[in-house]
Amino acid sequence: MLEIAGLKKKYHRHTILDNLSLHANQGEIVGLVGENGAGKSTLLHILATISKPTAGSIHLHDWDYQKHTAQIRKQIGFVPQDIAIWPKLTVEENMVFFEKLSWQKKSKEELKQICLEMHLDRWKDPAKTLSGGMQRKLNLAISLIHDPSLLLLDEPTVGIDLKSRKEIGAYLRRQATEENKLIIYTSHDMDEIKQLCDRVLVIGEDSFYHDLLKEAGKEVVVVG
Ligand SMILES: Nc1ncnc2c1ncn2[C@@H]1O[C@H](COP(=O)(O)OP(=O)(O)OP(=O)(O)O)[C@@H](O)[C@H]1O
Ligand SMILES: [Mg+2]
Repeated sequence: MLEIAGLKKKYHRHTILDNLSLHANQGEIVGLVGENGAGKSTLLHILATISKPTAGSIHLHDWDYQKHTAQIRKQIGFVPQDIAIWPKLTVEENMVFFEKLSWQKKSKEELKQICLEMHLDRWKDPAKTLSGGMQRKLNLAISLIHDPSLLLLDEPTVGIDLKSRKEIGAYLRRQATEENKLIIYTSHDMDEIKQLCDRVLVIGEDSFYHDLLKEAGKEVVVVG
């Protein structure tokens, strides 16, 4: 369970997020939309504990972000907007490297299985030889190694073909429903957002996204 209350983020004198509140439950997929520069990545960085809010509070499973950072970090899987993998290492070596950094012991078979569930089968190939879409899948696989309960995905499907996007979408839905994970993810692909998300958080007061999503019958939360 994630509880955000009165969240504010300023960079110097510029207010990016203002008075943002959200209550989200395990098993939900929450979409995060808004125009370029709206503050989507900023919010995900705060939720990933990489950046601190200027004001407001965040709780995950009753842990306070300010006091229980270590516990919270163990619960978080984060895929940044820019791909973060070791290009010279193979898929296998990348998975093993991040497994060593994680809090959970996983066998190579288990690690391979995470990749295969996403239809990433180039186990012995260096990451830099993978296509952009496959690198994103690897990044997503890495974020799942330690079995996080909160998954934060910043445009995880950019550059991924439709078939793979559907596969990833189905995988994320299974993770939410069967593994009871809470997933928050951003995308500029409104069809994907409409199909995949239970609820959508719109950042920015422009009614464009709001109207679009309401028409599709989505529950929309708008924040300034
Ligand atoms: N470290 C920083 N210092 C100062 N300003 C920043 C910093 N990081 C982000 N910003 C500003 O915060 C605003 C929100 O940026 P952010 O990256 O969160 O937007 P976004 O919604 O993710 O956009 P996009 O759709 O382009 O990814 C932008 O105006 C950006 O310039
Ligand atoms: Mg962004």
